[in-house]
Amino acid sequence: MDMTQVNVPAETQTATLHLPGQPPFDMAVTVGTENEHAFDVTQLRSNTGYITLDNGYGNTGSCTSAITYIDGDKGILRYRGYPIEQLAVNSSFVEVAWLLIYGELPTPQQLRRFRQLLTEHEMLHEGLRHHFEGFPPSAHPMAMLSAMINASSCYHPELIENDDEENFMASAAKLMSKVRTIAAFSFKKSLGQPIVYPHPEKSYCRNFLHMMFSIPYAPYEPSPEVLGAFMKFLILHADHEQNCSTSTVRMVCSSGANLFASVAAGVCALWGPLHGGANQSAIEMLQKIYASGESVKTIVEQVKEKKFRLMGFGHRVYKSYDPRAIILKQALQDLLKRTGQEDPLMDIAMELEEVALTDDYFISRSLYPNVDFYSGLILRNIGIPVNMFTVMFAIGRIPGWIAHWYEQRRSGGRIFRPRQVYTGATERNYLSIEERNGCANDLGCDAAYLRGI
Ligand code: ACO
Repeated sequence: MDMTQVNVPAETQTATLHLPGQPPFDMAVTVGTENEHAFDVTQLRSNTGYITLDNGYGNTGSCTSAITYIDGDKGILRYRGYPIEQLAVNSSFVEVAWLLIYGELPTPQQLRRFRQLLTEHEMLHEGLRHHFEGFPPSAHPMAMLSAMINASSCYHPELIENDDEENFMASAAKLMSKVRTIAAFSFKKSLGQPIVYPHPEKSYCRNFLHMMFSIPYAPYEPSPEVLGAFMKFLILHADHEQNCSTSTVRMVCSSGANLFASVAAGVCALWGPLHGGANQSAIEMLQKIYASGESVKTIVEQVKEKKFRLMGFGHRVYKSYDPRAIILKQALQDLLKRTGQEDPLMDIAMELEEVALTDDYFISRSLYPNVDFYSGLILRNIGIPVNMFTVMFAIGRIPGWIAHWYEQRRSGGRIFRPRQVYTGATERNYLSIEERNGCANDLGCDAAYLRGI
């Protein structure tokens, strides 16, 4: 029996919900600039007693946003209206960061000022630098990154207390600049090498690679190919609307928390293997396949038998080729060609893609390579170690998180507080420990002992 019915006449701005035994309930329809439709359920519970149930939020709009547009069916990704393909070719990471945060491409003066701020804030407070000494060499760089972002706010209380426009720009620049220094320092720490300080005359990406790969008396200078591929990597990771980590940033922000605390939480959300950690999982999977000597066909059969998932494949939103994967695959091919490098994992990846994309299991589930399938190969060929991959993603995503934090804060929105449908026990009376099942076990029923009295 159809219990509910929702009518959304195209010509009106109202959707009407018909629930059994209740009068029709009208909901305002919000239409986005790309003609996306949503009906507003904010008053649904107070008027009808119903809530919407959407496990994993796949169909829930948690906010309106003017930052990034994705059409997952058509493989479209735009930052502030600009196609990602144009930005990847024409823009720099710093310019894209400004665009995401402030909504427009910067004027030359704005870009110069922002670059200057990034340079001014690239050093870590010496007190903060000493925090690195407390981490064991085996610490995961994502744990260090999250902890250090949060800790860095302790050195700038003025930014936390006041988030007016000027302070916000200083916070944004500080965060973006320091994250890069923290990431490089944590890498050096894991190698047991001396920390390399940032160089004020180097651009954002060049400076990062310098801090990662220079050693005393042997400065590292990236080739244009390496620099270009790395820049594309960062640009393509800069934002992706309401994913797990960005929604985390907005959720933490909605409580009134400061930028550093919100972004530190975003780093933790990104860490998981189903999200930012997938670039690490994808490369580890390729390494395993290479080491096993198994044919790609056998691997695909095992995936179809659900023995494991093909990491770097599938996406909650993209049901066609992830546009970022197309650009990164090309960038990787260019990098390998121009540097004359060979990577056996790239051959396996290309074969996997070919086999999977012609197999009904993948076709029927719309599973295509996502950004992580080729991004790990780019990082590997730049010389970034696998356990730093997700940190690289985080560096790229910082501008997006800042933009979403800013948008959320300025929206004056309510604190995020989802509901649930409770499925636990209904009310029951407390049982004393003697009355519970399993009382006659090794511990006996010495109630005083069990209560710790
Ligand atoms: N390999 C094999 N099968 C897959 C894969 C995969 N990578 N992804 C999904 N499937 C299958 C599922 O087993 C399921 O099959 P079924 O219908 O027979 O049960 C079906 O496709 C749908 O899977 P869901 O888990 O419902 O898809 P969802 O949209 O929730 O998940 C996700 C998206 C998490 C990205 C998933 O595709 C996945 O686990 N991919 C591998 C991890 C990965 O690459 N993550 C990076 C995502 S991009 C990013 O975060 C930047």
